Amino acid sequence: MVNRGYGHSKNSSILSRRSSLTSIALCMVVFFAFSIVGFIIYSRDILADEERKPAFAVSEDEFKSDEERKPVLVVSEEKFKYEKIREDAIWEVPSSHGLHSCVNRTPQYKDAQRGNRYMTVRSNGGLNQMRTGIADMVVVARLMNATLVIPQLDKKSFWQDTSTFADIFDETHFIMNLQTDVRIVKELPKELESVPRARKHFSSWASMSYYEEMTQLWKDYQVIHVAKSDSRLANNDLPLDIQRLRCRALYNALRFSPAIENLGKKLVERLRSRAERYIALHLRYEKDMLSFTGCTHGLTQEESKELRILRENTNHWKVKNINSTEQRINGLCPLTPKEVGIFLHALGYPPWTLIYIAAGEIYGGNTHLSELTSRYPNVVFKETLASKQELKSFSNHASQSAALDYIISIESDVFVPSHSGNMARAVEGHRRFLGHRKTITPDRKRLVALFDMLDSGVLEEGLSLSRLVLEMHKNRQGGPRRREGAPSGVKGRARFRFEEPFYQNPYPECICGSKRAAKT
Ligand SMILES: *[C@@H]1O[C@H](CO)[C@@H](O)[C@H](O)[C@H]1NC(C)=O
Ligand SMILES: *[C@@H]1O[C@H](CO)[C@@H](O)[C@H](O)[C@H]1NC(C)=O
Repeated sequence: MVNRGYGHSKNSSILSRRSSLTSIALCMVVFFAFSIVGFIIYSRDILADEERKPAFAVSEDEFKSDEERKPVLVVSEEKFKYEKIREDAIWEVPSSHGLHSCVNRTPQYKDAQRGNRYMTVRSNGGLNQMRTGIADMVVVARLMNATLVIPQLDKKSFWQDTSTFADIFDETHFIMNLQTDVRIVKELPKELESVPRARKHFSSWASMSYYEEMTQLWKDYQVIHVAKSDSRLANNDLPLDIQRLRCRALYNALRFSPAIENLGKKLVERLRSRAERYIALHLRYEKDMLSFTGCTHGLTQEESKELRILRENTNHWKVKNINSTEQRINGLCPLTPKEVGIFLHALGYPPWTLIYIAAGEIYGGNTHLSELTSRYPNVVFKETLASKQELKSFSNHASQSAALDYIISIESDVFVPSHSGNMARAVEGHRRFLGHRKTITPDRKRLVALFDMLDSGVLEEGLSLSRLVLEMHKNRQGGPRRREGAPSGVKGRARFRFEEPFYQNPYPECICGSKRAAKT
């Protein structure tokens, strides 16, 4: 039993050695067979691929090595489309459909009259709020038949700045450019300095009839002082001549001072010498905005606390208790530098794209900015473009710095605002007026939903994200469309707050087709 067992065991070991040799040989045959079949299928695939996409026909050279062959083989129909989108569309200007700016007077429009009634104005807010406010005050002065005294600028806002009107704007040009519309003087005549003035807070988004009523003030006063200039005029339902005067005032008359214009031009030239095209990114990731909106996504606890304390201590910010999560999911937060990076990448902008950051100080400095520069290292500020000497007179004047950002943003190939604010709206509107220059307005509410999907791993960066982002933004490129009214359901005076502001989109009054322009 034992021997048999042994013999059996010996026999079987020989047998198994033989069978393993056979199976190795068999395996090799099968392996080669599969390799050949595989090679044939593989070659067919190459052919099939090439037959399907003649556009991607490649030269013999490209089949030299595996490394070179792979990228061609993995290009699917979708990828092919995506490559096309990236090449053609990222800088493409939206079609203006033959529309252009139109600010001419109608035949009924009468020249300004010389009177002895005066309007003095204190502008409030940051640079862009003041600019649009001043343009409106030009109109209000005309409606009230007053001589406008050059407005005083805000020196107390968050952007503390002692600049006068003439430091920021070309005063003489402003006066001359509007002389047939409104009489404008540099100062109130000496003899009127001490007379009592009517001090008025005009109603927000006021109508024509409101200002007609206000002319009653002239019965008792010779000078009216306007304490606030922002949003004192309705966006809609004003005569064509009045709307066009707003455009002439803002886009033609309110030019920056020669010093600002010249440096602005120089900086644009320097950008163009670095790259053929550039994006101006209004990265509104500044302390005041984060504090005001209560947005703390991606910030540390200390940072969140600092912002909360600033908000609590700022009297004119009425809302103190803010739930950051809710703000964010409702699309009310500025995009973070990281989110901007993901967004631009998804739109197809290559990593070497030149990006000018139009902004004040980025909150947290490089700790937050690096989340953008890690993707887009070619990021520049005015401080990197201009010498210390050139910026010397600007450094303590936030409004003058903002004016440089404004010029560079207007001239950019693409303007991207990370938040909706006065600057974003003003630049968007001006770019529309100048021929629908490309302005990509992020749909923050829907983007944030995608970013959260990235964070939770449900979605990955790449083609599918790109497709979603491109689809979401195909009608948010600054192309022509009529100014939007308030959403349905908003009633009464609340309507005004939700209408698209006039200066964000002066279409139809100041942007017309050729027929309408020819008539006027
Ligand atoms: C405007 O002022 C001028 C001169 O003061 C006056 O003659 C004219 O009647 C005024 N127009 C209106 C509409 O009040
Ligand atoms: C903020 O809002 C979110 C979403 O509505 C909610 O889950 C969270 O509990 C809120 N946080 C606080 C502190 O109220």
